[in-house]
Amino acid sequence: MRLHLKIWRQAGPTAAGRLEDYTADDVSADMSFLEMLDVVNEGLVRQGRDAIAFDSDCREGICGTCSLVVNGIPHGPDRGTTVCQLHMRRFKDGNTITIEPWRAKAFPVIKDLVVDRSAFDRIIAAGGYVSVNCGGAPDGNTVLIPKDVSETAMDSAACIGCGACVAACKNASAHLFMSAKISHLALLPQGQVERHRRVLAMVEQADADGFGSCSNEGECEAVCPKEIPIANIARMTREYLRAMLIAGK
Ligand code: SF4
Ligand code: FES
Repeated sequence: MRLHLKIWRQAGPTAAGRLEDYTADDVSADMSFLEMLDVVNEGLVRQGRDAIAFDSDCREGICGTCSLVVNGIPHGPDRGTTVCQLHMRRFKDGNTITIEPWRAKAFPVIKDLVVDRSAFDRIIAAGGYVSVNCGGAPDGNTVLIPKDVSETAMDSAACIGCGACVAACKNASAHLFMSAKISHLALLPQGQVERHRRVLAMVEQADADGFGSCSNEGECEAVCPKEIPIANIARMTREYLRAMLIAGK
C-alpha cells in the first residue's frame, strides 16, 4: 500500500505546530500502525531529517504509553484497541491518514506526537493507592470477596492510564480514568480505610491540573482501549458526595 500521512510536527512545547505531509510506501497489511511509523522514521533518518517523535513501550496494549489520535479518534478506528495494536490492514491503498497528539490543556505537547501525561501521575500520587500495611501476600480465601464485586473491581483495574478518555472528551475530563482507579479501590476491603480521603484528594488534584468536568456524553467510554464503562463515573460521584457529607463540606 501507499499511504498519504498528515502528521502533527511541533519542535517543542512552546513552538507553533502544524500538519506536515508524508508518504508511506510499501506498507504491508500485516504491519502495526507503529511499525508503519517506524518505517517512515527510518526513511527520514536516512535523509538526515528529524524523526517523528511518538510514544510507545510494550506495543502489546498493556502499558498505556502509545497515544496517537488517528483520523480524529484517540487510538484509531478499532474499538477496545490501543493504537499499538491497530494494524494497517484496517486501511486501504491510497488512503490519507491524519495523525495528531492527545489534545488537552493538562497534557501539553512535548514534541510532535508526544505529550506530558504527568498530570495523571499527580492524580494517582494524590490518592490512587492503598497505604495500609497489609503484611505478606495472604491466602486467596482469607479475605472473602463476592465474585461479582471482585470482577467489577478487576475490570476497573484494567485501566492502563493512557489518557485517551481525556483526549476524546470535549471538556478534557479525567473522570473515566479517576473513576476506574477509585472504583477499583473502593470496591475492595483493602481500599476502605482511605476511601473518603482518596476521592476528595484525587478530584481536587484533577481540578488543580486543569482537567474539565464530565457532561455525560460517553466519548471516553467509546475510545477507551480497555472498555472501562462510564458506570464507574456514577460510582465515583456517589463516592465523592458521601465523602463530602462525612467531611462536613
Ligand atoms: S479509562 Fe480507558 S481511556 Fe482512560 S486512561 Fe484508563 S484505559 Fe485509557
Ligand atoms: S505501547 Fe504499550 S499500550 Fe501501546
